[in-house]
Amino acid sequence: KKVKHMNPMLSLSNVFDEKELFEFLKKINNFLGLPESTTHAFTAEPKIDGLGISILYKEGKLITCATRGDGIVGEDITENIKTLKNFPVELQNAPKLLEVRGEVYMKHDVFSTLNESLEKKFASPRNAAAGSLRQLDPEITKQRNLSYFVYGVGGASEDFTYLLQHEMYEKLKGLGFCVNDYKQCNSVQEMLSFYQNFESTRFQKNFDADGIVYKLEDLTLCKRLGFTAHGPRFQVAHK
Ligand code: IVH
Repeated sequence: KKVKHMNPMLSLSNVFDEKELFEFLKKINNFLGLPESTTHAFTAEPKIDGLGISILYKEGKLITCATRGDGIVGEDITENIKTLKNFPVELQNAPKLLEVRGEVYMKHDVFSTLNESLEKKFASPRNAAAGSLRQLDPEITKQRNLSYFVYGVGGASEDFTYLLQHEMYEKLKGLGFCVNDYKQCNSVQEMLSFYQNFESTRFQKNFDADGIVYKLEDLTLCKRLGFTAHGPRFQVAHK
């Protein structure tokens, strides 16, 4: 079955070095008509290399979960996602309507054990996660021991409000979702040192990440910045 997302699931633009990060920050100030030297707070967190999902809750009940698909319409994987450990099927004190965005992935140790048991092996944890999520039998998905993080909200009713990006994370945690560790950065230096720390420790992590995502904290500014056809002007992946 196909599921239409409340709002399109877009992509992030990338920066590959410090210079490009400064360019990204400069564009934000230009767009907002602020002096070039204006600084902003950002959150920083890993960009998980898994499969994007979108989960819709009505009155706190999980209604549908879909893959990213073409960004507009995805594939229905509701019954499979319900088998994931720590995935909330029912939310307490939930807003009327909430579409949460996240990433499903397979931890490295789970991937190694799975591949040992298979004759036809998966090439990567990402492929294994994709194959495990698209099973017709949810019991197989359950045995695959997949993990997830949520990182955003695709749409919500007016009773779900927050002014800062990290407030959104705390609200999602409060509802019972797994949110990755993030850092609040108050300067470019803090953003870069989070990235350097990630780079030097990425091979010790139990998951694949293909960079860091920086997200502008002030969601009022995010609204003003808006989106290009490609993605948001207020978030970027540092690869
Ligand atoms: S924010 C406009 N945060 O990366 C999309 N995305 O290129 C904003 N991803 O489709 C997404 N970890 O599936 C965001 N911490 C994270 C992420 C993350 C992985 C994936 C996501 C999205 C793609 C964007």
